[in-house]
Amino acid sequence: MSDGIFRRKPIESAADAAGGQRLARTLSWPHLVALGVGAIVGTGILTLIGVGADKAGPAVILSFGIAGLICACAALAYAEMATMIPTSGSAYTYSYTVIGEVIAWVVGWSLILEYTLVVSAVAVGWSGYAAPLLQSYLGVPMTLMQGPELGGIVNLPAIGIIAVVAGMLILGTKESATVNAVLVLVKIVALVVFVAVALPYFDAANFTPFSPFGFPKSMGADGVERGVMAAAAIIFFAFYGFDAIATAAEETKNPARDLKIGIVGSMLICIVIYIAVAAAAVGAIGYTRFANSPEPLALILRELGQPGAAKYLAASAVIALPTVILAFFYGQSRIFFVMARDRLLPSGLAKVSSRGAPVRITLFTAVLVAVLAGFVPLGELAALANAGTLVAFIAVATCMLIMRRRAPDMARAYRTPLAWVVGPIAILGCAYLFFSLPQRTQLWFFGWNVVGLILYFLFVARRTRTA
Ligand code: ALA
Repeated sequence: MSDGIFRRKPIESAADAAGGQRLARTLSWPHLVALGVGAIVGTGILTLIGVGADKAGPAVILSFGIAGLICACAALAYAEMATMIPTSGSAYTYSYTVIGEVIAWVVGWSLILEYTLVVSAVAVGWSGYAAPLLQSYLGVPMTLMQGPELGGIVNLPAIGIIAVVAGMLILGTKESATVNAVLVLVKIVALVVFVAVALPYFDAANFTPFSPFGFPKSMGADGVERGVMAAAAIIFFAFYGFDAIATAAEETKNPARDLKIGIVGSMLICIVIYIAVAAAAVGAIGYTRFANSPEPLALILRELGQPGAAKYLAASAVIALPTVILAFFYGQSRIFFVMARDRLLPSGLAKVSSRGAPVRITLFTAVLVAVLAGFVPLGELAALANAGTLVAFIAVATCMLIMRRRAPDMARAYRTPLAWVVGPIAILGCAYLFFSLPQRTQLWFFGWNVVGLILYFLFVARRTRTA
């Protein structure tokens, strides 16, 4: 084992982590597929498809394809690492085991950003659908249901849904995962209904001109960065979530089988559904009419003269979007848990209740994400969440390739096919998406990591060395 900030965690210790602080093994692959699809299908396809269309025009289809391909490559690398190191912590734990402590810190710090912001972003997206219902049925004023950027005071529904999901997690993983599975079905059926209703209106003329803003990111006259890749960098939000499954590794009954089926299966299901939804959406009414709408799929159905289907879709979103919050909340609390267990965060946070749930970290996370959801705009949250995720994906694919070189004969329950093609596509693709994000987002992300590294060198490096 090397020393100092490049200290690596032995695989044995990752797999046999801190006796009394083990999480209960309660999950198997159907739970994981449900957890994966539950985490993947959400605000991305329901809301950000409009933002993507605004940036790419009909070529948003291509943006979906590119983001999906890159994500699928990262998913394959994830599956290999997750079955090799089936403990909580995903990209953070792999980096600690394969590369070294300081890189693991950067990855863990980026994952905290990702999970926190996804929970907040989806809570805000959920509130966008829920607010009109709460206003008409309960008379709640809009100023209490929107953040300051929309002229409101605070987004109370977003805070409320976070509180509900936190409560579910504290009650125990298995119960939450079962509820999750039912809600996933609601969401999938709603998207299938959307495609079935919109597809008969398909008109190929809506696809010309196909790519009005070109391929690479470029600045428009209105100060908005556009292009197929700029759209892909945002649409990317719609595809991740399978990594939340990997954070559950330590709680699966048969990690090798369960993780492989969970990660690859949920990813494939989502790619197929998204391409179908995007093609049906653009083909039905043309992108300009739903670009940047806060509820684009419902709007398309209304425009097609299908208000009943539109209401059904909106209600399904309100019922089912919490599955995304649940999955990322779950992943978030586990990242905190594992980093605390490794002494990179205060170890008192890692205490597990008799039901196997890390209660303190769940409560701590709930307060943090609620504050963000209450006051920060959706677009900013989603773009910055993508930055953290892209860095974590680059780390995972790098770990996979390093291990192929360093320990080619080590047992792997799952081997990434064409690793030396798939790995580099994941790494270079994620890097290209990162630099296609808005410049402001990139600066925020670097700022976050500068703060993280200062904390690391001031407090953490010393502590882990005396561990
Ligand atoms: N993929 C998740 C969503 O679209 C984060 O909501």
